[in-house]
Amino acid sequence: MSLVLVMSALSVLLLLLVSVPGSASQVPPHNETARVARYVAHHCDWGALATISTHQPVVGQPFANVFSVSDGPHHSGTGVPYLYLTAMEISVQDLQVNPNASLTLSLAQTPYCRKEGYDPQSPLCAHIILSGSIQQVEGSESDTAKMALFTRHPEMKDWPRDHNWFFAKLNITNIWVLDYFGGIKTVTPEDYFSAKP
Ligand SMILES: *[C@@H]1O[C@H](CO)[C@@H](O)[C@H](O)[C@H]1NC(C)=O
Ligand SMILES: *[C@@H]1O[C@H](CO)[C@@H](O)[C@H](O)[C@H]1NC(C)=O
Ligand SMILES: *[C@@H]1O[C@H](CO)[C@@H](O)[C@H](O)[C@H]1NC(C)=O
Repeated sequence: MSLVLVMSALSVLLLLLVSVPGSASQVPPHNETARVARYVAHHCDWGALATISTHQPVVGQPFANVFSVSDGPHHSGTGVPYLYLTAMEISVQDLQVNPNASLTLSLAQTPYCRKEGYDPQSPLCAHIILSGSIQQVEGSESDTAKMALFTRHPEMKDWPRDHNWFFAKLNITNIWVLDYFGGIKTVTPEDYFSAKP
């Protein structure tokens, strides 16, 4: 085999290796809505968390803010969105008054939608809205949360200690999925947690 052939075979192999994570082929079919929801929840490293503001001049109004999230290390997602929070944070102060919140996650936050040419508002650029309440996690679940977050967000371990960080999760009560034409779909938490992502 000529050197050129070997080189091009190698570059094809390299391309295959590089393009596998997050590739289009991995997004579950749109009729398997619970699996799509788990896929989106696992592949997004951050999301917009909406709280009811307690801060002037927008008291009582919706307030969406960016948070790093993780439902587990790569390829072992639990479906539970974990967060690393401090009471110094403006949205966390809202949550202390009213823990109800919604978390929006979109494949626009991964290379997928740009690669496919899907606008973030297109239903083909799958996105989910999870609502429920934010709860601090304790005991062994805080180890799970720590593993989930620190593997995906390595700089978290160096965040200032005097900020009193704690681990939390969204206790999901409602799930909406936009992954195709024909309107938004809902998935029950039971179907979501039992789905194979
Ligand atoms: C989704 O569609 C595929 C092919 O159209 C079909 O084989 C599969 O059973 C469907 N899955 C569900 C959950 O409806
Ligand atoms: C949070 O949401 C639940 C369920 O929708 C509702 O029953 C509860 O009153 C809400 N809590 C607050 C503080 O608004
Ligand atoms: C999650 O929220 C539901 C509905 O508000 C509630 O019944 C349940 O106790 C909560 N789960 C935990 C672990 O607190």
